[in-house]
Amino acid sequence: MKAYKYLLLAICFTIGTASAQKTEKAVQAQSFSPGQIWPDNNGIHINAHGGGLLYAKSTYYWFGEHKIAGGAGNRAMVGVHCYSSKDLYNWKDEGIALKVSADSTNDIAKGCILERPKVVYNKKSKKYVMWFHLELRGQGYKVARAGLATADNVTGPYTFIKSYRPNAGFMPFYPEGTSETEKVNCDHPATKSDGFFCRDLPGGQMARDMNVFVDDDGKAYHIFSAEENFTLDIAELNDEFTEHTGKFARVYVGHQTEAPAIFKHNGIYYMIGSGTTGWAPNPARWFSAKSIMGPWTYHGNPCVGKGSEITFGGQSTYVLPVAGKKDAFIFMADKWTPKDAIDGRYLWLPITFKGDDIEINWLDTWGLDVFKKIG
Ligand code: GAL
Repeated sequence: MKAYKYLLLAICFTIGTASAQKTEKAVQAQSFSPGQIWPDNNGIHINAHGGGLLYAKSTYYWFGEHKIAGGAGNRAMVGVHCYSSKDLYNWKDEGIALKVSADSTNDIAKGCILERPKVVYNKKSKKYVMWFHLELRGQGYKVARAGLATADNVTGPYTFIKSYRPNAGFMPFYPEGTSETEKVNCDHPATKSDGFFCRDLPGGQMARDMNVFVDDDGKAYHIFSAEENFTLDIAELNDEFTEHTGKFARVYVGHQTEAPAIFKHNGIYYMIGSGTTGWAPNPARWFSAKSIMGPWTYHGNPCVGKGSEITFGGQSTYVLPVAGKKDAFIFMADKWTPKDAIDGRYLWLPITFKGDDIEINWLDTWGLDVFKKIG
C-alpha cells in the first residue's frame, strides 16, 4: 500500500514538473535581460549577431550573422538569420534570409566572412536591400568589401547581387569650413590614414564594420570603417540604395573607429562607435552633427558607471528608434564569444538624453516602460 502511494506521488510530481516546464516555455518575455541567453519562439538562443533591425508593417525584423559553435563560427557557414517580433521582447524564428553559397568560387561562398548585415526598405524599387561587410573565403580581412543582396519579401530569400570597394576614383566631400590642411592631398599624403585613402583611391575604399541609415528625406547612407579602419566614411547611396554615388565624408580621420551606429533625434545626427580591439571590448565613443555630411564632433564615451570603460563587455551594432515612444532609442551591442561564436550575447540598453547629450547606463533587466509614449 505504502509503495503504491509513493509511486502515485512520483507520477504526480513528474507530471507537475513537465507541465511547469511547458508553461515556462509558453510564458512571454516582458523585459530585456542584457547579456543573458535570449530564447526565440522555439526556446533556442537568438542567432543574429552584429545585427540590425528594420520596422515594417508594425513588425520588427532582426537580421544578424548566424554563427555556429566553436571558433569556426566566426566565419559564415550558414548566412544571415532573420527573426520577427511585435513587442521587441519575444522573437519568432523566420529562418535564414540570405544563404551562403555552396559554390566555392562565389563571393559569398560558405566559409567567407560576412558581418554586420543591415536591411532597409526602398520605396522606389519596393525591394528590401541588405548591405553587409564581406571578406572572400580564405583571405582573412584583406579584401574589405561592401556586399549587397536584395529581396521582394522582408524575410527573404535575399539574392546576392555584388560585392565591391566603394567610391573608386572619388575624392571626399568637405563640409563648409573645412580648412585646406584637413583636406587630403594625394600628391603629399599628410598622415598614415591619408596614405591609405590615396592608395585605395583607384580601386575603391576599404569597407569593413558598417551600418546603413535612412534619413527623413528618404536618402540612405552607408557608414563604414575605411583606410585600414583608421577612418569612418559616411557615403551616400543612390535612389535604389544599391550603389554608392561618390559623395562621402570622412569622419574622425586617423583615429580607428569601428562598429558605427547612426540615429537622429530632434534634428541632430548621433553616431556611436567603438575602438578597434577585435572581439575584445573597449570604450565606446559618440559623435554628433547637424548635417549627416558633417562636421561631426567627437564627445568621448557615452557609457557611464561600472563596466563603462569596456562598453559593459559589448560592442555597438545598431541603435533602434522605438515606434510610438518619445525620445526612445535602444543601444544594441554584441558581447562576442569568439571561442564559441554561437554563444555570443546581446546587450540592449536604453539611451538617456541629457539635453543634446547622451548617456548609456547598465541595467540588469528593464522594459520599454522606461520610455514615454508619444502624445
Ligand atoms: C571587430 C569587428 C567585428 C569583427 C571582429 C573580427 O572589431 O567589430 O565585426 O570584424 O573585429 O576580429
